Amino acid sequence: MSNTKQILAMLKSRVSGDDEQFYSIALQIAATEARRGHRSTAEDLRTAVDEARAAKLRGVGVAIPFARPRGDLESLIDLKEPKLRIKDVVLHESVNEKLEDLIRQQVKRDWLREHGKTPNRCVLFVGPPGSGKTMTAEALAGELHLPLFVIRLESLITRFMGETASKLRLVFDETLKRRGVYLFDEFDAIGSHRKATNDVAEMRRVLNSFLQLIEQPNATDSVLLGATNHPELLDRALLRRFDAVIEFESPSDEQIRALIEKYLRPLKRPRLAWKKIIEAAAGLSQSEIARASEDAVKTAILDERDTIRTDDVLRRLNDRREMREAFSKVER
Ligand SMILES: Nc1ncnc2c1ncn2[C@@H]1O[C@H](COP(=O)(O)OP(=O)(O)OP(=O)(O)O)[C@@H](O)[C@H]1O
Ligand SMILES: [Mg+2]
Repeated sequence: MSNTKQILAMLKSRVSGDDEQFYSIALQIAATEARRGHRSTAEDLRTAVDEARAAKLRGVGVAIPFARPRGDLESLIDLKEPKLRIKDVVLHESVNEKLEDLIRQQVKRDWLREHGKTPNRCVLFVGPPGSGKTMTAEALAGELHLPLFVIRLESLITRFMGETASKLRLVFDETLKRRGVYLFDEFDAIGSHRKATNDVAEMRRVLNSFLQLIEQPNATDSVLLGATNHPELLDRALLRRFDAVIEFESPSDEQIRALIEKYLRPLKRPRLAWKKIIEAAAGLSQSEIARASEDAVKTAILDERDTIRTDDVLRRLNDRREMREAFSKVER
């Protein structure tokens, strides 16, 4: 077999998850090398295969990090492979500092454990819609090289009325088995005082089991994140149990500029009137500013321009503001 053929065959076996085939090709290459008189290369290859096989045996029962949840879990948890890093998110300095602290504790968790300390792992993200909470969860997973699992509590609760507590336990069991960043999105769905959902007892049960589950200090190496727009709806008892609460706020002037620059990036933007732009963006969320900038870029692309002008951005920001006002009228 030529080298390219061997590489192709290895890739195919990889894709189909056929490990034995993968190793067998590696051993064939080792044999070829041995025939050519490259004894030590052949030996290295054989040792590597032996080690890989042994590692796999040791790993039996431990799920492969990026494998999709199966069975019951499939409908409860969404897997996202993180593509972002913290530097991709425009954040307040205080948020960055808290994230760095969390990352450091996680990266050096063995060290902390040796000294009898539990690394922080339970964090609540609080902030208005579109301020980057979900995005930050992904970036955090990216920094830690972990898969991101998103649990949408609202849907878990409504879909499994009566069995939410047991479903939640299933999710928690998974956090023990498989290290990852677990984002409990729309967290207020379980934490709230508000009893809009008719089954009060059910909510209480779910809340209690959640509290018990996050209480076990060394139970998991996973990172558990809650995200909410409504911290005031959360129970004090619940807030107390988090290792940290990170507040996401509306963007500062500097961040508005950073956001627009980030999302305009592929295009040239000679001397924008930043003062005007920042004024027009005031009151919009990070997400609205991002979308407005992207819209400006799309228009420029379709117009076959490679340059963005102040007016392009202003127009799109005003569109977003109008949308927001229209919505708030509907809500009232
Ligand atoms: N801080 C930020 N930096 C860069 N981009 C951002 C930021 N915040 C939001 N965005 C953009 O807006 C999109 C939506 O943001 P995201 O979903 O993270 O907000 P959220 O805080 O989770 O909102 P919600 O409370 O509605 O769930 C992101 O995918 C990203 O494109
Ligand atoms: Mg979100």
